[in-house]
Amino acid sequence: MAQRFARLWRVSSSSSATLSNTFRSRPWVSKRYLFDAGSSAAAATAFGGKTKAALIFGGAASTFVLATYYQLLHPGSLPIQEGNGLHPDSPQEVSAGPTVKTGLISYSEVQTHNTATSCWVIINGEVYDVTELLETHPGGKHVILKVAGTDATRIFTPIHPPNVLDTWPDLVKVGRVDPDTIPALSIEPSEEEKRIAEARAALPHPAAALNLDDIETLAETVLSSTAWAYYSSAGDDEVTNRENSAAYWRLWFRPRVLNKISHADAATTLLSFPSSLPIFVAPAALARLGHPGGEVNITKASAKEGIIQGISNNASCSIEEIMEAREPGQPLFFQLYMNRSREASESLLRKVEKAGFNAIFLTVDAAVPGKRERDQRVKGEFSVCPAVNGTDRAGNGVAQAISGYQDPDVCWADIPWIQNITKLPLIIKGIQCVEDAEKAYETGVQGIVLSNHGGRQLDFSPAPITILQELRQRKPDLLDDKNFHVFVDGGVRRGTDVLKALCLGARGVGLGRPFLYANSLWGEEGVRRAVQIMREEIVTGMQLLGVTSLDQLKPEMVRYVDRDPVHVPPTPRFHTPRNPTTSQS
Ligand code: HEM
Ligand code: HEM
Ligand SMILES: Cc1cc2nc3c(=O)[nH]c(=O)nc-3n(C[C@H](O)[C@H](O)[C@H](O)COP(=O)(O)O)c2cc1C
Repeated sequence: MAQRFARLWRVSSSSSATLSNTFRSRPWVSKRYLFDAGSSAAAATAFGGKTKAALIFGGAASTFVLATYYQLLHPGSLPIQEGNGLHPDSPQEVSAGPTVKTGLISYSEVQTHNTATSCWVIINGEVYDVTELLETHPGGKHVILKVAGTDATRIFTPIHPPNVLDTWPDLVKVGRVDPDTIPALSIEPSEEEKRIAEARAALPHPAAALNLDDIETLAETVLSSTAWAYYSSAGDDEVTNRENSAAYWRLWFRPRVLNKISHADAATTLLSFPSSLPIFVAPAALARLGHPGGEVNITKASAKEGIIQGISNNASCSIEEIMEAREPGQPLFFQLYMNRSREASESLLRKVEKAGFNAIFLTVDAAVPGKRERDQRVKGEFSVCPAVNGTDRAGNGVAQAISGYQDPDVCWADIPWIQNITKLPLIIKGIQCVEDAEKAYETGVQGIVLSNHGGRQLDFSPAPITILQELRQRKPDLLDDKNFHVFVDGGVRRGTDVLKALCLGARGVGLGRPFLYANSLWGEEGVRRAVQIMREEIVTGMQLLGVTSLDQLKPEMVRYVDRDPVHVPPTPRFHTPRNPTTSQS
């Protein structure tokens, strides 16, 4: 592996542009993608989408490194031909396909090759001798040994590029299996696949979901354990995640009555862009893990419901796909992580501005990844993204050179740097105390998001609504400045949560997980349903509070009660984490 990497490393830098242009797959969105697991259609969907890798990780130097690393992991997806810049001694070895022996082989014979000294697997009817591959397999050898001597098609297909078997050098094709000898059992769907298929078949109409907790409860039933763990997980003991919601329960209203409230309107503007509600889609990665339509479903639903979507820097749909789905004039915000390569960030900013995004949200609370144990547990030993984790699948530490593109040294000096590059409104996302809110205000950005990344980063970071309260007490002028927008996100699940934040001076409120869950259930329709639920709750809440427009919401309409409510209803938000302890494979 190390040797092969060393060879691939010698791709000349002049060919890096070509390589970056040929990035074709998004491996990280395909993981255990169980919508239609096992079929080649699933693999095509999972791996065929246009990638934004070059865009995300763009910039000559980093693209070169990443393209090379990607090439190492997915050689089949990038054409390598002689004369393309590879070192003269490497093309033959890299592009050599499997050696074909002969024969129609019985399943029982395959079964005898189930050890590290002789390891065969069946994929799409072909029998492969993968003994040599064991040591170099990017996913680690243990995962292959688990399926040694069996038909591995179902587990292989959804997580590998479609043509990888034709090009990977360490594979030996032994021949075709005699289909008549395969016992019916070996094509049985896994327990998880069965569970998901049944749950999807039993899904009610979206209208049956009465609140966002219903959506979350249903989503857990249809998501693969990997996707559920990724979406739901939070940092350490997940205290911040629960507190994000619970803190809203300590704010109580002081409702006014006998106002005429039959016509209440919850429309507003966020950064001067119209929004039918004071909520927006908080940018969140990997919407395709839950539904093949991914972020595009959310774009379409946002247009129809008149709200604004934030697109994650790690979205699983490309900017092109999102822009194609966008309605004319539909406002969209782009969330940026600062790249270690400032060149890459600069070219991304220019691309995003040119594409027509309306604002930049710079996320600053994820300089290093939080410790998300639910996510780690379910994935098992080898399944954490190599680029994020800083180690490759075979444990060779190849990705040490990359260790994620997000720059841990993102700092205040980067703000004027971004302001110099783009004229788009700039919002700093992830402010967690009043001092930093003030500091952000002084930089001249157009706003901030009080956020702790949905509790996924630092546990015991305070609930954003409590930071807003403190801001209201200590820096009301900052909240009252019409040219500075303070948003909050985290744990918002009810219309009344939104109204409380607005009373205290927030201009808008972001929701993250609810839209991912709704998308996982019913795609675009699900996201629309989630917005409609919020619309009903916000408008009803306004009317019962005695207001007909959002500008009538005032700080004196809420008060802080320093105790928990009488009882905590059994909503999923307050469940003990499931913490699955075994890998699903
Ligand atoms: C050039 C190589 C790669 C780069 C730069 C890269 C980058 C990334 C990034 C930025 C994320 C998002 C993390 C987050 O925001 O939480 C991610 C997630 C992920 N990647 Fe990769 N990736 C690469 C290769 C791969 C490969 C080869 C696989 C496996 C076939 C993979 C599997 C995953 C998975 C399963 C996730 C999802 C969720 C998670 O683990 O947090 N990645 N990757
Ligand atoms: C017949 C050959 C192969 C078999 C049976 C096989 C099997 C597997 C299995 C079972 C996993 C699942 C790991 C998990 O549960 O997380 C896996 C992961 C992986 N395989 Fe393969 N594989 C084969 C060939 C290849 C080849 C040729 C590549 C070259 C690119 C490759 C790249 C990967 C990567 C990057 C992962 C990590 C995916 C992740 O954890 O997200 N595999 N493989
Ligand atoms: C699965 C998931 C992925 C996320 N990815 C990103 C991201 O790529 N960029 C970002 O700025 N925030 C990201 N966030 C944080 C959200 O923007 C938002 O701050 C958070 O989800 C709000 O909390 P909530 O989920 O309780 O509504 C992510 C959140 C989740 C749940």
